[in-house]
Amino acid sequence: VYIGVLLLQIFFLPHFISCDGNLSELVFPSNFLFGTASSAYQYEGGYLSDGKGFNNWDAYSHQPGNLIVDGSNGDIAVDHYHRYSEDVGLMHSLGVNSYRFSISWARILPKGRFGEINEAGIEFYNNLIDALLIKGIQPFVTLTHFDFPQELEDRYGSWMSPQSQEDFAYFADVCFKSFGDRVKYWATFNEPDYQVKFGYLTGTFPPSRCSRPFGNCTDGDSEKEPFVAAHNIILAHIAAVHIYRTKYQETQGGSIGIVLQCTWYEPISDSIADKLAVERAHAFTFNWFLEPIIFGRYPPEMRNILGSILPEFTATEKQKLNKGVDFIGVNHYTSYYVQDCMFSVCEPGFGTSKTEGFWAQSSEKNGTPIGEPVSNLNGELVWQNAYPQGLDKILTYLKDKYHNIPMFITENGYGNMNKADSTTEELLHDAKRAEYIAAYLGALSTAIRKGANVKGYFAWSLLDNFEWNNGYTIQFGLYHVDHETLTRTPKLSATWYRNFLAEHSKVQ
Ligand code: NOJ
Repeated sequence: VYIGVLLLQIFFLPHFISCDGNLSELVFPSNFLFGTASSAYQYEGGYLSDGKGFNNWDAYSHQPGNLIVDGSNGDIAVDHYHRYSEDVGLMHSLGVNSYRFSISWARILPKGRFGEINEAGIEFYNNLIDALLIKGIQPFVTLTHFDFPQELEDRYGSWMSPQSQEDFAYFADVCFKSFGDRVKYWATFNEPDYQVKFGYLTGTFPPSRCSRPFGNCTDGDSEKEPFVAAHNIILAHIAAVHIYRTKYQETQGGSIGIVLQCTWYEPISDSIADKLAVERAHAFTFNWFLEPIIFGRYPPEMRNILGSILPEFTATEKQKLNKGVDFIGVNHYTSYYVQDCMFSVCEPGFGTSKTEGFWAQSSEKNGTPIGEPVSNLNGELVWQNAYPQGLDKILTYLKDKYHNIPMFITENGYGNMNKADSTTEELLHDAKRAEYIAAYLGALSTAIRKGANVKGYFAWSLLDNFEWNNGYTIQFGLYHVDHETLTRTPKLSATWYRNFLAEHSKVQ
């Protein structure tokens, strides 16, 4: 199989290197970070190893009946906890100069605030960070990427309580103190809009709270809870930023930001109604967090629709929130058309809720994908379409709206279905992934040429890994992982990325 793939690579690679035009002529600033991205629950495994505490995803994935299509979990994931040295070696062989990973909060503080620091957890991340730095790879650390100690849920309902703000800030402080001498890039949260939508609207992420008609549960209040959880997350973010800026930033010299899910939306027609619907879709995704954190207030579109359901910030909070980020982390995979359903009559199911515009994918009619279909869910619904211009457009939009604050592409990648009958050879020959990444790098370069202040790009992901509700059925790796043996094998896309980075380093 391996030889077959090598032959395919020799045959196809020249095509990819030239098919975009001239990848080596793309413009990337000096000191640009090129890396791969991951997260603790999706990679580490080591489920209760060396004192790690039980977390919310352990609880969710161990509860029969919860949505994970193949019934799997992250107990072993790709065993990065034990194989991190091998994985750092793979990164080094690709030629990346940065690695984005997240910290398992329950590995550092097994019981959240209510217990001791787990020194073995600190040691694991010290070892990982040191191994990276020895190879010239800058750590880019997300403090929490969807997983947190279950204790916080059991004691006070995690993000539903303001107590979560203080506890997150405490965890952040432990991390800055332990790792900040070597970590110069910090992100507080990853895709908080998805975290609260799935956790409190559809109930398909822990803590699986929701109310009908949004999801299939009865023990939550989906009209309110996502907004309360998001409010506490925003204030937790700013509490951590405040600690970093007052206690560490001057001596450690790093920067701190937040990572957002930045799907690009476009109006399906030129009508004003559809254009306003796009603004609502943006408001209820990334602007939900960026406007408070940068301007100190929620997007007007949200306030108009939600009124008093949307929590308020106090005057002191507003002050703290102002310019509460050094950079924006942009996770971008796909783009959708949006059609207004608030003022126009749409198909049943669209635009009927009071929280119109809240859940862009259900309340705005945006079933029309832009670009070429990429990833299917269960062989049916397509969730990802390749539309590289979407990256240029969202970067240009963010640049104009947020005064060209530094940005990183913290995730971009291509997910393929691993069907039961997919052969390893087919999976290794991922020409489409290489093409997708090449095209998105082209669009990124265009945005930079037009002035977007982008400082790095991270491909999701180095390895095939645990893809949340899709278990191991959708895979994004540049390296194939055999989930029985945990063997890592480079796909065509890994070779492509390595060649691209080698070309790029010649023009630096
Ligand atoms: C974004 C999330 O941050 C990451 O955890 C996930 O695996 C990728 N998207 C792909 O869906």
